[in-house]
Amino acid sequence: HRDLVSIYGLQPWEITGLLDEAEQWVEVNRGRTKHDERLRGLTLINAFFENSTRTLLSFEIAGKRLGADVVNMAVAQSSVKKGETLIDTAMTLNAMRADVIVIRHESSGAVQLIADKVDCPVLNAGDGRHEHPTQALLDALTIRRRKGRIEGLTVAICGDVLHSRVARSNILCLTALGAEVRVVAPPTLLPPAIEAMGVTPFTDFDEGIAGADVVMMLRLQRERMAGGFVPSPREYHMLHGLTPERLARAAPDALVMHPGPMNRGIEIASSVADDLQRSAITEQVEMGVAVRMACLDVLTRGRRGIEGW
Ligand code: CP
Repeated sequence: HRDLVSIYGLQPWEITGLLDEAEQWVEVNRGRTKHDERLRGLTLINAFFENSTRTLLSFEIAGKRLGADVVNMAVAQSSVKKGETLIDTAMTLNAMRADVIVIRHESSGAVQLIADKVDCPVLNAGDGRHEHPTQALLDALTIRRRKGRIEGLTVAICGDVLHSRVARSNILCLTALGAEVRVVAPPTLLPPAIEAMGVTPFTDFDEGIAGADVVMMLRLQRERMAGGFVPSPREYHMLHGLTPERLARAAPDALVMHPGPMNRGIEIASSVADDLQRSAITEQVEMGVAVRMACLDVLTRGRRGIEGW
């Protein structure tokens, strides 16, 4: 079997293939009957060691709509709190014969560690600052549906790039699909040598979003700044917040995105987030369910005796 731990290492045709698979689920999810039984008899375990609203719920909904038995591990009440190691926890899930495991963890690399130990496909629901591959796929699907293409678009990924697994996965995904990607961040939140990822860095927000087709805002991740420089929310909003005035510098039909959860009034003004003409934020959430259905389907095909990943 294969896992989905990162966008890194995926071929462009594999990314496009997952997006194509997801399209059918967008239509199914908009209908009255949302059930498909293709994962019937399989057990999906969601093990989230870090908080989540969108990713956890959408993996749960995706698994249930495909007919799987879905179990959410309650980490706060688990033996992790008694000091059980990550590997022992993984071996425990494996012994229960899970058919697919979805993991979110605060440490970069933790999901790969588990994937190396268990016998079933593992999907990364976000590991530290490393990757959040299904977020990048749902963002790519949102862009492709709204803009009709990804190749040749200018996408500005703006804000706390340094701490962002969403930025990293999106850079890998969008450059693989032929977009021109810019990263726009204050100097303290711009990763060193980010040009090596094939992107153009900017520290001036107005310059960075000029003419952009897509403006993707990132959450200011103050919880990951312990011991380091923490910008003041008011100053951050003034210099790096997406306001209507700043958005006017982007292309006239620029799409506004944010993975959520949003800090309204810090990285994004409420009036921009709620502008249904420009903002695709709720559509991103909708695409999340479809993309996760596609990933669960494709990754479990081997277990169902069908040719897949
Ligand atoms: N975008 C995202 O991962 O949101 P959650 O943290 O709510 O899952």
